[in-house]
Amino acid sequence: MLQLHDKQFEPFISAEEIDFAIASMAAQVEADFAEETPIFVGVLNGAFMVVSDFMKHYKSPCEVSFIKMASYEGTESTNEVKQLIGINQDLTGRTVVVIEDIVDTGNTLAELKALFKQQDVAHFKIATLFFKPEAYKKDIKIDYVGIRIPNKFIVGFGLDYDGLGRNLPEVYQLKE
Ligand code: IMP
Ligand code: MG
Repeated sequence: MLQLHDKQFEPFISAEEIDFAIASMAAQVEADFAEETPIFVGVLNGAFMVVSDFMKHYKSPCEVSFIKMASYEGTESTNEVKQLIGINQDLTGRTVVVIEDIVDTGNTLAELKALFKQQDVAHFKIATLFFKPEAYKKDIKIDYVGIRIPNKFIVGFGLDYDGLGRNLPEVYQLKE
């Protein structure tokens, strides 16, 4: 059992399962874009661990950048998403693969898609380690999904509950 602030969490997904899922995503992206020098865009803060492990599994030429959005307060997704820091690099003709820790309602994703729509990229793809199909409200295609999970709040491997839990190498779920 794990206590973060006022809530208790229980073990849910092991470090091994996470690594396997990230390795398969990297292999899929590599099969699709090895020729293109893709630029991976990690969505901070949550995706920092995913991006790091993803890139260690990705052996072909690639670049990385980060973007910072914000939508979560506590354990409830808020409807408003803000971009806090962006990419100051020309993405014209580039293959962009956005890397997310988790896609929940899809609000962040919709915002990201709108943001990159203004740029003349060659390919725009989305990869996420975790996906909550029951919570997803958009019809934007998610190109690479690591692990589908039920609509439960999770922490660990970059994901936090009000700032805590990001350093855990495995994933815990909120105890009901
Ligand atoms: P969305 O905009 O509702 O899809 O939420 C996306 C963001 O909310 C993610 O990138 C996370 O930062 C955060 N989030 C969504 N679900 C969880 C969760 O179960 N635990 C921790 N953070 C989450
Ligand atoms: Mg996030």
